[in-house]
Amino acid sequence: MTTALITGSTAGIGAAFARRLAAQGHNLVLVARDTKRLAEQATELHDRHGIEAEVLAADLATEEGIAAVEQRLGDRTHPVDLLVNNAGFGNKGRYLEVSMADELTMLKVHVEAVLRLTSAATASMRSRGRGGVINVASVAAFVPRGTYGASKAWVVQFTQGAARDLSGSGVRLMALCPGFVRTEFHQRAGMGTDNIPGWMWLDADKLVASALADLARGKTVSVPDPRYKALMGVVKLTPRGLLGGMSSRTGRKYGPQ
Ligand SMILES: NC(=O)c1ccc[n+]([C@@H]2O[C@H](COP(=O)([O-])OP(=O)(O)OC[C@H]3O[C@@H](n4cnc5c(N)ncnc54)[C@H](OP(=O)(O)O)[C@@H]3O)[C@@H](O)[C@H]2O)c1
Repeated sequence: MTTALITGSTAGIGAAFARRLAAQGHNLVLVARDTKRLAEQATELHDRHGIEAEVLAADLATEEGIAAVEQRLGDRTHPVDLLVNNAGFGNKGRYLEVSMADELTMLKVHVEAVLRLTSAATASMRSRGRGGVINVASVAAFVPRGTYGASKAWVVQFTQGAARDLSGSGVRLMALCPGFVRTEFHQRAGMGTDNIPGWMWLDADKLVASALADLARGKTVSVPDPRYKALMGVVKLTPRGLLGGMSSRTGRKYGPQ
């Protein structure tokens, strides 16, 4: 039986990864901050699918949290075969409206944690000659979209470079670039979603099924769903200035929270 470690497993895309991987018979290490929610999720997945679900409460915006997950990934007596670096969030506000502390927290979770956890996992996977890492980025990586998009652009670049450096080692890395997905993300960030057209919303379970298929095919960047594949084709042909205006408006209406 193989083991997958998922950060941000308790909601949205991470929870969809947990459901699908458990249904496929993988044991899980579930990582998030809310211990009660983690425990409930572990019990439910164990009862439904008969898998072992381990809980690791960690805040990936802190040194201790990142170190605890690194340590688990480096435990060669209980190896992790698939790492899903999924935990992430959006800040409420545009550039210069968000405090520097919140900007740095985003970099800690989206960049430092992804770098350190990927490195801890792949060092161990390379010595075993197999393993996989999915780093959840966003289509925001490909358009001018504030510091959030910039952090996700780092995830894509990092993952592509690391995948190339580790090619032939048996370890696969893939950046997953979703469009808008119905999760807790927008509500947590206090973002209004009523200016996002209905056709742009993706289903988390379908997204995860496509992502795992793309990893199995050996893709290093996955943009699931034909709608977003087509949109990214248009993005490549659109002048950056025009793109900046369009992309910074869509889905960035900040609500009252
Ligand atoms: N939803 C979208 O439209 C969309 C689109 C493209 C990319 N993404 C990316 O997809 C990923 C998952 O987002 P989602 O939409 O599924 O969000 P979500 O529904 O808000 O879930 C976020 C998950 O991450 C955990 N988390 C947040 N901050 C954390 C921290 N500091 N340390 C540990 N765990 C943390 C949360 O649990 P706790 O609060 O208990 O820690 C929760 O399990 C993110 O990287 C996001 O940037 C989302």
